[in-house]
Amino acid sequence: MSTTDTATLPADTTAEGERFLKVDDIHAYYGESYIVQGVSFELRKGEILALLGRNGAGKTSTLRSLARVGTPDLKKGEIWLADLPVHKLKAHEAARKGIALVPEDRRIIQGLTVEENLDLAQIAPPIGWSKERIFELFPRLGERRRQEGVTLSGGEQQMLAVARALARDVELFLLDEPYEGLAPVIVQEIERTLEQIKAIGLTTIIVEQNAIAALHLADRALILDMGQVVFDGTAREVLDNAELREQYLAV
Ligand SMILES: Nc1ncnc2c1ncn2[C@@H]1O[C@H](COP(=O)(O)OP(=O)(O)O)[C@@H](O)[C@H]1O
Ligand SMILES: [Mg+2]
Repeated sequence: MSTTDTATLPADTTAEGERFLKVDDIHAYYGESYIVQGVSFELRKGEILALLGRNGAGKTSTLRSLARVGTPDLKKGEIWLADLPVHKLKAHEAARKGIALVPEDRRIIQGLTVEENLDLAQIAPPIGWSKERIFELFPRLGERRRQEGVTLSGGEQQMLAVARALARDVELFLLDEPYEGLAPVIVQEIERTLEQIKAIGLTTIIVEQNAIAALHLADRALILDMGQVVFDGTAREVLDNAELREQYLAV
């Protein structure tokens, strides 16, 4: 557990790298429903965090709070991305500043080809990855650049969702259940994609029911239960602690 008083640490750097994201005691509501109940954590640049917990624990709501999408309503707490006060931003501002949420349903836009999906993601002026660079990372998307996005396989749609985030010059990558509904062989493919994301050094939060797969990829782990943090530590610690996994993850 990280119980260090951050106020006593020197500035924004440590031997392990720069502190990049600081989520400080956020509280969020859907109407009267109090869902995110004082969540705090920090990430360093380039780290991958596995955000875990049972169904209904508040994982999606936490991601949505970070991306500043309309609901849930963030009523208290602060979110800092380097020196940017994310808690003060609207969703479109957060998106422009490089906070990219890939939601569970992936939001592939109907009637658009792979290429058009990427063009649309590249908010003017083009600041994100070029299509050429994206197709180098995902040759399968390159081969299908003129195919309609919705006709792609589940795994390819997930790649396209990731590619859309890269096209937008992502600083903080938020992935909600990227393996959901995908066949095991496709999951392996997405895992390889995420390994590449890791090699690129993108700061990423990945929510996943497939906790073991996420933990193998992640540096850190945060477990939520009923809207509160019940574990904050390394991914290794969770992999090595069967009791913890049984209690909060049922794996
Ligand atoms: N739009 C909503 N309106 C009201 N309650 C919601 C809404 N979305 C989610 N919730 C509730 O918030 C809690 C956390 O949900 P969610 O963040 O989606 O959990 P998880 O992603 O961990 O499964 C659940 O009890 C869920 O029913
Ligand atoms: Mg969810």
